[in-house]
Amino acid sequence: MIRSHRKILSLSSIALFATLAFAATVHSHWDHVPAKDRARSNPLTGQPQAVAAGALVYSDHCAECHKADARGDGHKRPSLRSDHVRSATDGDLEWFLRQGDLAHGMPSWSSLPIEQRWQLVAYLKSIQ
Ligand code: HEC
Repeated sequence: MIRSHRKILSLSSIALFATLAFAATVHSHWDHVPAKDRARSNPLTGQPQAVAAGALVYSDHCAECHKADARGDGHKRPSLRSDHVRSATDGDLEWFLRQGDLAHGMPSWSSLPIEQRWQLVAYLKSIQ
């Protein structure tokens, strides 16, 4: 009896571990970023006016979904003040903005001028 309980316990901890590992590995956009994009750094880093410009672009295009405070809608639109966003490089963020993830409701911003995407990246980094 005790022995079979132990077995169930250890099986369920294996299942839990597998689920956590799966969740941690599969669900990051950053895993798909090509190395050369990932390595790019923001040419506007250190320019306070880039952050201010990014805040304006953000309120024009992003606040509608991610909300004015960038904390998301608590449902499908994620917070942009998060460990996940913090863990992204500048290049990861610019790449993701360019690609979007339309299947999950995030538009592509490839039609914005590249400078505005870097302004957005500067803004996103500034609010972490
Ligand atoms: C129409 C709603 C919508 C708009 C507008 C929108 N987003 Fe998103 N965004 C989403 C959704 C939904 C996701 C989650 C997509 C997914 O899970 O793949 C997302 C994901 C993201 C992520 C990834 C967050 C993470 O932790 O994985 C970033 C960064 C982001 N958006 C930034 C922006 C920026 C910057 C803008 C403005 C240029 C913007 N979004 C405009 C809906 C939107």
